[in-house]
Amino acid sequence: MLEFKRHRRLRSSKNLRSMVRETVLKKEDLIYPIFVKEGENIKNEVSSMPGVYQISLDLLEEEIQTITDLGIVSVIVFGVPKEKDEVGTSAYCENGIVQQAIKKIKEVNNELVVIADTCLCQFTNHGHCGVIEEGIILNDPTLELLSKTAVSQAKAGADVIAPSNMMDGFVAAIRVGLDEAGFSHIPIMSYAVKYSSSFYGPFRDAAHSAPSFGDRKTYQMDPANRLEALREAKSDVLEGADFLIVKPALSYLDIIREVKDNFTYPVVAYNVSGEYSMIKGASLNGWIDEKAVVMEKLISMKRAGADLIITYFAKDVARWLSE
Ligand code: PBG
Repeated sequence: MLEFKRHRRLRSSKNLRSMVRETVLKKEDLIYPIFVKEGENIKNEVSSMPGVYQISLDLLEEEIQTITDLGIVSVIVFGVPKEKDEVGTSAYCENGIVQQAIKKIKEVNNELVVIADTCLCQFTNHGHCGVIEEGIILNDPTLELLSKTAVSQAKAGADVIAPSNMMDGFVAAIRVGLDEAGFSHIPIMSYAVKYSSSFYGPFRDAAHSAPSFGDRKTYQMDPANRLEALREAKSDVLEGADFLIVKPALSYLDIIREVKDNFTYPVVAYNVSGEYSMIKGASLNGWIDEKAVVMEKLISMKRAGADLIITYFAKDVARWLSE
């Protein structure tokens, strides 16, 4: 008889399968994004992201309580300001919406790890992530503003700074800024590998951050590139990054694995808005089993090498993990 291996031996019961399972997803792996909007009594569902809301400061307490009760240990904060200008002043002013939100969150639950997204696109009237001169996004003048933004977020109580704007040298500039301001203990979770992706569309609805002209292709990466991801991650590590984000996640599982294998820092997968909306859309139509599909997707990110996952599904997943 032909010799063959009996792989099914290890799949024969639920308990046996759980004993040989190689990858686990835990609540501590999850980072929940929240959109805080300036104003009062606001709880707007984002039309392209069912189940995701922009909320105002006065309603934040309840939201943070829910998140805490679910056992989620970390959130990443995005601000939706009233005022925007050429240079994104509302990103780094002391009473900016993000700074106020961070303070509020820490008041409600001081132990929650609050990550501040550090970028300018939600705060500039042109929607680009940097300073503009004659239609060109300028690198070095932007660095100073990012550093200012990071310091103001740390002053407000942020536990981690997550710069997402993809200017060259942003980690170094922010590290120096934080250290000089007395925040050498605050880690940087760098969006080290961020592709110029069409999967960010729904986020731009949520954060009102779509560029008013052109696109982000001169600063975000070409989806066709793999080696460039390693160069980006390497420079961020040299500049002092403490975590490395790969974004988006699903179409870039190979890149997550590369970053995991080539560096020794925690890798964070950003399961972005478009990835959320596709699953939501299909499940609201009854075409897929939402819970099963989400759990499969998130475990695949962890299997690819992600240590942490930023996901709009965090609340649902935390609930499912408790069941
Ligand atoms: C800001 C930023 C973006 C996202 C996170 N931070 C949008 C962008 O680069 O246009 C996208 C997140 C998502 O799609 O869920 N630069």
